[in-house]
Amino acid sequence: MQADGIRTVAIVLAAGKGKRMGGDVQKQYMLLDGLPLLYYSLKTFEESQVQEIILVTGANEIEYCKNELIGRYGFKKISAVVAGGAERYHSVYEGLKALERSGAFLEHTYVLIHDGARPFIDAEIVDRAIEDAVEYDACVIGMPVKDTIKVADGNGFAKMTPERSNTWMIQTPQAFFYPLIKNAYDKLMERESYQRGITDDAMALEKMTGHPVRLTWGSYENIKVTTPEDIEIADAILRRRKRVK
Ligand code: CTP
Ligand code: MG
Repeated sequence: MQADGIRTVAIVLAAGKGKRMGGDVQKQYMLLDGLPLLYYSLKTFEESQVQEIILVTGANEIEYCKNELIGRYGFKKISAVVAGGAERYHSVYEGLKALERSGAFLEHTYVLIHDGARPFIDAEIVDRAIEDAVEYDACVIGMPVKDTIKVADGNGFAKMTPERSNTWMIQTPQAFFYPLIKNAYDKLMERESYQRGITDDAMALEKMTGHPVRLTWGSYENIKVTTPEDIEIADAILRRRKRVK
């Protein structure tokens, strides 16, 4: 446990297929400046106050991750590499179960669930996520949107326009008091009908428990690499980061 009596664990998700990116290599293993995309967020967690990392990947990539990521780059905090599932929430659940198996201090544990496809988190984001998780039990990293957002009616017309100052885009990590999120996911997994449309962890919590979720400041660089043009944006962010270092 940390000096303040809490245990902090990151679950990093890398079990997706990357369909929107296309290509032969899954996006989490594509090279950014010579290093696999997944390396960057693992490195940030490794150097952060987080104590442990659980990596969730495809069943066929577990060996690759153990040898080519953990072995090659010497990550010390990765305590487990487990296989994910068909949807993101399945992969999260596998990560939570791996944490449950680890057994220790679960009543003092805070978990940060992070998309491995977001390479540009930084130590400050991790610190803010932990701080707000400890204070509010549930928080998501995000940023106010810059564009006006319209909700569509399903027929190609705008149905309504949320007030921009109250509209955020949601990123990861999403951080929770472990027993709270485990309970929400246990319930979510009971019925398929609960799982429809669940795209992030806060939604699982809101839907299954109604517990409020704090919005915590992230960064506009904390993009999710999703489609091919995001690779160019990611390269530009990396180049800038190298210049300012
Ligand atoms: N993810 C996962 N397990 C899944 C689906 C997604 O661990 N079954 C992870 C991805 O690896 C990614 C993160 O969740 O780090 C966010 O998902 P997304 O950006 O949608 O990635 P993919 O599902 O891989 O991409 P796509 O939806 O285009 O296929
Ligand atoms: Mg996906």
